[in-house]
Amino acid sequence: MTVPTPPRPRTLLDFQGWTQERLTALLDNADTMNQVLDRPVKKVPALQGLTVCTAFFENSTRTRISFELAARRMSADVVSFAAGASSLSKGESLRDTVEVLTAYKVDAYIVRHPASGAAHLVARYSGKPVINAGDGRRAHPTQALLDAYTIRQEYGSLEGKKVAIIGDIRHSRVARSNAELLPKLGAQVVLCGPATLLPAGLAGQPGVTVTSDPREAVRGAHAVMALRLQQERMNGGYLASLQEYAGRYQVNEALLREAESGAIVLHPGPMNRDLEISSEVADGPRSRILKQVENGQAVRMSVLYHLLVGRA
Ligand code: CP
Repeated sequence: MTVPTPPRPRTLLDFQGWTQERLTALLDNADTMNQVLDRPVKKVPALQGLTVCTAFFENSTRTRISFELAARRMSADVVSFAAGASSLSKGESLRDTVEVLTAYKVDAYIVRHPASGAAHLVARYSGKPVINAGDGRRAHPTQALLDAYTIRQEYGSLEGKKVAIIGDIRHSRVARSNAELLPKLGAQVVLCGPATLLPAGLAGQPGVTVTSDPREAVRGAHAVMALRLQQERMNGGYLASLQEYAGRYQVNEALLREAESGAIVLHPGPMNRDLEISSEVADGPRSRILKQVENGQAVRMSVLYHLLVGRA
């Protein structure tokens, strides 16, 4: 009996429907993209004739710039929609905005929005391939892909690796996407933070455990990721004091003594230095934080190629 192949997703909203095989192909293809980025002329014609729109309704440095560069490196035309300078301020709806952009023959959207589920709406309103560049607390799949790629670059594989993610899990779409992706690639994920920043519902996912004890989380870890305290999304009550938080949960040299001797340190950025991560660690030999930034471009090229050309 032939098992039918699941349809290839034309969107990357989260990792639902993405098989391990397809995810591995996408990461393998990022190796090829990194080779392109090492050439004197960092450009290939793969997306020539296509128009990609970056539609950011929330601020970003890394994700927006790396996607725009990624699309341009592959010869796409890029149009950048900035919510603050648009007719949204006159009351235009998300739906009307997307329909206007689609009328200009945009071929694909890269969407960041403060509301969970907004990228799904853009996919529905446009009927085009959509990449979720972060929606509310829900998902940030390309960040998780570049995190996975960075760990794989270090160890050759995610299989059997322990990844500790420490910090503000409650508000983190990065934690949710990594908890969805890394177990699909064979890693164990431990999510750690104070009880007030650890929402129910994450424990019990395959390959994911949850603890409030940072030493337990980091013990034997191959990679330790610090998460930003998203104070702009907190209206009090989550933490007694920032000093107490840093005293217990900061990723610093003392905490890293519990990890594997060669453990690497990640942070999706932007960082609150000397709050969730010490500057000594952020700038030290274990840090792969700038490597994550660098890999973001190649991984996003691979995602665009996979969705728009389709042979990754
Ligand atoms: N990690 C991340 O999403 O960073 P930006 O908000 O700068 O895009």
